This record gives sequence, structure tokens and C-alpha cells, in this order.
Amino acid sequence: MAWSALLVGTIGAGIVLRAAPQEREPAAPVAAADVAQPDGWDAALRLPQPEDLNPAPDILEFNLEARVADVEILPGVTTAAWTYNGTLPGPYIRAKVGDTVIVHFTNSLPEATTIHWHGVRVPNAMDGAPGMTQAVIEPGATFRYEFVLRDAGTYWYHPHQSSADQVGRGLYGPIVVEDPADPAAFGDDLVLMLSDISLDDDGTLLAKDNGGAFGDLFGREGNVLLVNGKVRPRLKVRAGKPQRWRLINAARARYYSFLQPGGAFVRIGGDSGLAARSEKTTRVTVVPGERQDVVFIPPFAPGSVSALRWRPFDRGYGTAFGRRSEVIMEIETTADARVEPSAIPEQLREIAPVDVTGAVEHTLDLTIAGEGSVVEMGINGVPSWHAAPLTARVGETHVWTVTNDSAFDHPFHLHGFFFRVIDDGLVPEWKDTVNVPVKSSIRIAITFDDRPGMWMYHCHILDHAEVGMMGHLHVEQGE
Ligand code: C2O
Ligand code: CU
Repeated sequence: MAWSALLVGTIGAGIVLRAAPQEREPAAPVAAADVAQPDGWDAALRLPQPEDLNPAPDILEFNLEARVADVEILPGVTTAAWTYNGTLPGPYIRAKVGDTVIVHFTNSLPEATTIHWHGVRVPNAMDGAPGMTQAVIEPGATFRYEFVLRDAGTYWYHPHQSSADQVGRGLYGPIVVEDPADPAAFGDDLVLMLSDISLDDDGTLLAKDNGGAFGDLFGREGNVLLVNGKVRPRLKVRAGKPQRWRLINAARARYYSFLQPGGAFVRIGGDSGLAARSEKTTRVTVVPGERQDVVFIPPFAPGSVSALRWRPFDRGYGTAFGRRSEVIMEIETTADARVEPSAIPEQLREIAPVDVTGAVEHTLDLTIAGEGSVVEMGINGVPSWHAAPLTARVGETHVWTVTNDSAFDHPFHLHGFFFRVIDDGLVPEWKDTVNVPVKSSIRIAITFDDRPGMWMYHCHILDHAEVGMMGHLHVEQGE
């Protein structure tokens, strides 16, 4: 075949690639483990880590300030984003399982805020639920958060006050809790924080009530798609060399769904670290609040540029109608020959079933009501501001049936505790956020460990939570 640099066009998955020179006689394959990623492979996506003020190796202590800062999102114009430490996303918290995190937080925003450590099993007083676990942190005030990272996995942090607006303006950051025992075959770690933001051409943030009642109902999807705060960043890879994508959906309402044929994705886990088994997959979906842990093995020809596309996801009434896919990241392969990835173990983790004999049962129906121009959502028809708490005792196991008869999907999130989705036929794993599709119902099993207090649960389409789709649970000390 002739040497060519043709645009072959869009293949099934919408990957545009340029054909690379073919080798007539392929040399013996090089093992992925024997080569490094190309220089600056993740430079366009790297996130700043906080400066550790504590010399102890197992304590990460740092200052975190929420403030308005000018950041360049659209080329050539600035956006007065709401940030942690001036960057979007905020600092990348990375530590080992068992480490302690101490955060000296200052609120320099023009309004009150709190921080919620999404998915991290923090003590109740550290959970950031305003009016429940702490008073709001007023402008100019400070708060000290401290907790132990008990579980390896990928988590994130964000405000829990006016969260649709504050998260939408840029307040979110990643947390990775390393497990030193993870197999090297997973490849190099890369956090990909997926989000979107609503901007005018001149970089101005749209008002929080943009779209009015329709915005509340559909959930606000920003018009600018971001990966690690960047528009269409470019990742450099070597063909065949695996990398571990820790996908975090920090968007207010947007679902992310990716397609890659040809064994490029091996799913290894999600919200709380590894799943029981690894699994090849062609599609990866991350709903708001959720995480996906995936090994990506670039299937592209050496010396090509391909695209990772956001694809319209039908999450209910009109949400995919007339919409097109959009490139959110470019993937450039070096000219080097493809390497041979090492096998990813199939068994990853022991995940014992939850014993649900004698479990306390609850049904939570995710409901949409409201009249005229006012949208009101709730759980069992009750908006959060009128809801009475559910109760549970430390050590008790519950089975919650979460049903959705409404016209939209809802990503259901429980604070503080991991659950197992039961009878879903999927690879067992621990989760804290799960999609409940239109006209369906899921069952989750939860055992409440010894962290009594008031914990929230809600839809992670933050616009939905804000108009009432939220409730709380009081975990009481056993008798
Ligand atoms: Cu990330 Cu109450 O949520
Ligand atoms: Cu919802």
C-alpha cells in the first residue's frame, strides 16, 4: 500500500483519523511497559496540586480559597469564573488510601458557600450540607475541614450551597485516592474532569436562571464543553500504550457518553474504586456526579489525530432531539510503532454481596410537579424544604427502591455511604451515584457504618436538586 496521509473520514464511532504509513514488515512488538508516554503527553490537561503545608507523609494539609478569578476559557477573552485557588477546576487532591486531609478553607466569594466531598466517607460534621452538618460559610469566613481518605478511588469536591449556580460557575475539583496495590497494567493515571459552562461570546457567564423554568426542568447544560477546564485540549499518546482515565462528571446536568470500538476501553471501576472484574466495553457513560474508571488503549494508527466526542444522550423528554455530537478532546498519536499492552487482570476486587435479609425497605419516588412557570420537584411528591427525614440506625441495612415515573432520567446520589445496586446484572461495585432512567426503578442496598448524623440524598442534576428533588436521612446511634 502506498504511503499516504489521507483523511479517511469518519468511522463508525466518529473518530477522524489520518492514515499512517504502513510498515511492510512489522518488527517484533515492543511491550507497553518498556516505553514511557511521549514527553508532555498530558501537559494540556495537567491540573495543579495543592502545596502540602504538612511535612508528615500521611497528611495532606493545604489552603483552599474560593474566589472569583479571571480565567481564559474561550480564546482571547476572560471569564470571571468562581474558582478554588484561582483555577478551574480547583486543585487536584491526590493522596494515598489512609491519608488524612486537612483543608484550611476561606470563602472570598460574594456569597455563602460550603464544600461537599462527594463520595468520600467523611465524618458527618465534614459533609458540607448547609444547615444540617454545618452553618454556611459566609463571605470572608473560614472553615477547617479534616477527614481520612478511607477508600481508594476517584472522588470530587464542590459547593453544596446554591450548588447549580456555584458549580456551574466553576467551583469543582478532583480527588484521587491511590491504592499502591493497583496493577501497573492500568497504565498512567489521567484525571478527566468533564464539565460545561454557560458563556456569552465575550466570556461573560450567563445568569443563573438562564432558560427560566425550562432550565429547571431540563437541567442547564452549558454551551461550552470542558475537559479539565479546557476547550478541546489535545492529549498525546503512543498507539497501544494504556492510560487510566478517571472520568468525573462535574456538570450540572449534562450526561457524557463516549464510544470507542475495537477494545479501546476496559472498564475497571467507578465511584468507589475498582469493580469486582474488568470488562471490555465500547461505550462509557458518566452521569452527573458519577465517576468511571477506564483503561484507555489508543487504537489509532501512529501519527494520527483523532477525536473524543460527546454524544447526545437521551435522558428523557427532548434531551437528545436534534442535537449533534461534539469534539471535546483531541488525541494525537506519536509516529512510533504501536506497542503491545500488558494484560489487565480480570479479577480486580472482592465485593461481597450485601446481606439484605431483614433489611428495612423504603420506596423513594422521584417526582416532578409544579404549575405554570414554576417547576417543583420532590421525592414522593414532597420538595426538600417540606421533607421529613428518613431514619436509620448505625449497623442497619436498608434496601431502597428508587422509582422514576417522570419524563427525565435522574442521577440519584446518597451522601456519606456507598451502596450496591442489586439485581442489575452488572459487574458488582460500590457506588454513590446511579442513574435512574425514565419509567424505571432500581434497588440499592446500603449498610450504615458508624457515622451517625444527618445525610442528604438527591438528584445530581443540580437544577433538579435546587427545585426540590432532595431529601435527608438521619442515622442514629444504635441502642
Ligand atoms: Cu455531589 Cu449532594 O452532592
Ligand atoms: Cu433529576
